[in-house]
Amino acid sequence: MVDAATLRSRNAAFWTGAAAGWIRHADRQDEIGRPLGAPAMDRVAARPAERILDVGCGCGGTTAELALAVGETGTAVGVDIAEAMVTAARQRFSTRRYPGIRFRAADIETLDVVPGAPFDAAYSRMALMLLADPVAGCTTIRRSLRPGGRLVATVFRDGSVNPWLFATMLGAAPHLGALPPLPVGEEPGPFSFADPVRLTRVLTRAGFTAVTITPCDVTLDAPDEADAVAEWLIEVGPAGAAYRAAPPAGQASARAGAVRLLDRFREPGVGYRLPAGLWLVTALAAGADKPSTAARPPVTYHRQPRQDENR
Ligand SMILES: C[S@@+](CC[C@H](N)C(=O)[O-])C[C@H]1O[C@@H](n2cnc3c(N)ncnc32)[C@H](O)[C@@H]1O
Repeated sequence: MVDAATLRSRNAAFWTGAAAGWIRHADRQDEIGRPLGAPAMDRVAARPAERILDVGCGCGGTTAELALAVGETGTAVGVDIAEAMVTAARQRFSTRRYPGIRFRAADIETLDVVPGAPFDAAYSRMALMLLADPVAGCTTIRRSLRPGGRLVATVFRDGSVNPWLFATMLGAAPHLGALPPLPVGEEPGPFSFADPVRLTRVLTRAGFTAVTITPCDVTLDAPDEADAVAEWLIEVGPAGAAYRAAPPAGQASARAGAVRLLDRFREPGVGYRLPAGLWLVTALAAGADKPSTAARPPVTYHRQPRQDENR
């Protein structure tokens, strides 16, 4: 396993390189990718006048949603390590339309507290599993919350319940240059929080209590535009930087490769239905600024009905 400093600089470099793709697809990500954060958005239930932190806010779509919920008397602060994404977020969501919105470019792992603290709640859509040192990052989050403040987040479960992620990668990668190193063991990556025991351990060490981890199955509905969908998924994934660096012929082959493997999720004339398996994570900030020493933290697992079961 690589040391923490190397992982941290690798993480910063990865997100700096990934930013262009995320900015390019920001609207698509917010619209089609909304189910990835919707269970946490519902659960955090931001109320008028609250102060909410959005961790790993990317191009700011969820921060804007939170800003609308807290209204003029509240605050929604989005933090992201990628400066270019934060700049894009400021351009997309102005304080004129979203009075309480603020964005800050920072590594959550190295801040003492997020400026604007104490927050009533912290929200995060699909970012916590990507932290180089998740205990450090979650400790900053906990210190930035008022005692008893709530953390509500989504992260991926394992790869088997998110098969489109592999389909995109395996289809595109053979046509592109070198990709970032694949995560090993507990290194940051989409599935580094697949194990709920590890996730609970991280949050408990960071000083959270009352941890609950609930499986949620959602579906991303994308239009029947094979090339555009493949490009979006490639550019927001690990192959994004290599894709943008590739010549047009290489990009076309990468898209074609991804389209081929994504075909199993396509309903012709209707669109793509991409199944995503998430954990919905909730926890409360303990008051004292020291890690809990509980040997066996209280963890509850709940099964949620699949989206299709609700129909
Ligand atoms: C998978 S993206 C999700 C972005 C956004 N939440 C969304 O759903 O559209 C993960 C985000 O976490 C950010 N991130 C990764 N490590 C971070 C860190 N240490 N501190 C702050 N942000 C970080 C990345 O820059 C990226 O924008």
